[in-house]
Amino acid sequence: MNILAIDTSCDETSVAITDGRRVLSNVIYSQVLLHKKWGGVVPSIAKRAHEERIDWVVKVALNKYQRGKTSAVKQKQNQEQTVEVKIEMANIDAIAVTQGPGLAVALEVGIKKAKELARKYNKKLISVNHLEGHIYSAFVQNSAGNPTKDFRFPYLALIVSGGHTEFVIFKNHLEYKIIGSTLDDAAGEALDKAAKLLGLGYPGGPVLERLAKQAGNIDSHNFPRPMLKSKDLNFSFSGLKTSFYYFLIKEKKPTAKTPLSGVKLLASSFQEAVFDTLIKKTEDAIKLTTINQLIVVGGVVANLRLRKLMKNLTKKYQGEVLFPTYRYLTGDNAAMIGVAAGYKAGKGLFVKDIDRLDRVPRLSL
Ligand code: KG4
Ligand code: ZN
Repeated sequence: MNILAIDTSCDETSVAITDGRRVLSNVIYSQVLLHKKWGGVVPSIAKRAHEERIDWVVKVALNKYQRGKTSAVKQKQNQEQTVEVKIEMANIDAIAVTQGPGLAVALEVGIKKAKELARKYNKKLISVNHLEGHIYSAFVQNSAGNPTKDFRFPYLALIVSGGHTEFVIFKNHLEYKIIGSTLDDAAGEALDKAAKLLGLGYPGGPVLERLAKQAGNIDSHNFPRPMLKSKDLNFSFSGLKTSFYYFLIKEKKPTAKTPLSGVKLLASSFQEAVFDTLIKKTEDAIKLTTINQLIVVGGVVANLRLRKLMKNLTKKYQGEVLFPTYRYLTGDNAAMIGVAAGYKAGKGLFVKDIDRLDRVPRLSL
């Protein structure tokens, strides 16, 4: 079953064509350059950019699919150009769209487009939870059907992105149980805020990773590890951010004159504090659930240091850890939405009344 999937949950306009677990085409038009100067995602800018780009992204995804091209492309802001491609919807069986969670004004753009396509071409519509998309990103295959790894339920999933830090038991297809989440900031958000305080720009995760690596991932400052004493599996990163903020005030915020080595050690120590918290809580979750098969997904797991720590942890428990199968699947993308939608379609879970489908910005699993 060929599905055309749309994700506009935050700052990437993405459209994919999938067939079961296979991705036949996936296009991601990132808005990161538009938001960079504001130090974070600006909703009104995101909405307008999605509106301006969505038709183009749908066209390119269909065009790539028709040409049998499957590589994921990241279109840069200034590469926009009008590409005339014949919209060929005949081979598409259903439309899928992210309903939430996400930015309301951004979600709306994708949902409107999905409804329009479903009506115009008489296709069924499937609504997908963005977080289930992230979970399925660990099982997405390329057009040739690789990797072939099959499902071995249950899994303990950790979603770590700019908006979410959640433990989920992935019991079976489309069956989830949330067992922990952040009470305030998400892990990616904490990294972004720390980078901003250090004057390193947005998004902060990749910059911190690079500087931390140059510092040898040393933890020289020993910032607090929040919530480690709590008995539950919840996170809280805002206290860490605050203590980092006051530390910088006390020690004087780095300026252009601060030796880079000092900034690197701060970046490295902050990253270690976040990751150490994630690892210790994950260890608690493994013990509590006795599940040693992990899935770690979301933007933050693009980080190789975090991957290494997660691998070491699962090894200790004779388990294994799955990450998004390809790097482009760590951040937001429509391919993972299409794959999750395929499982919903398999169970006949289509939207009953297209007119009534609406975005749910705080949708939970
Ligand atoms: O999944 P994602 O693209 O969007 C959300 O749904 O939030 O995640 C974005 C987050 C940002 O906080 C960004 O700083 C973080 O993922 N991120 C990273 C890395 N690449 C992106 N964090 C740590 N290391 C990275 N290499
Ligand atoms: Zn996401």
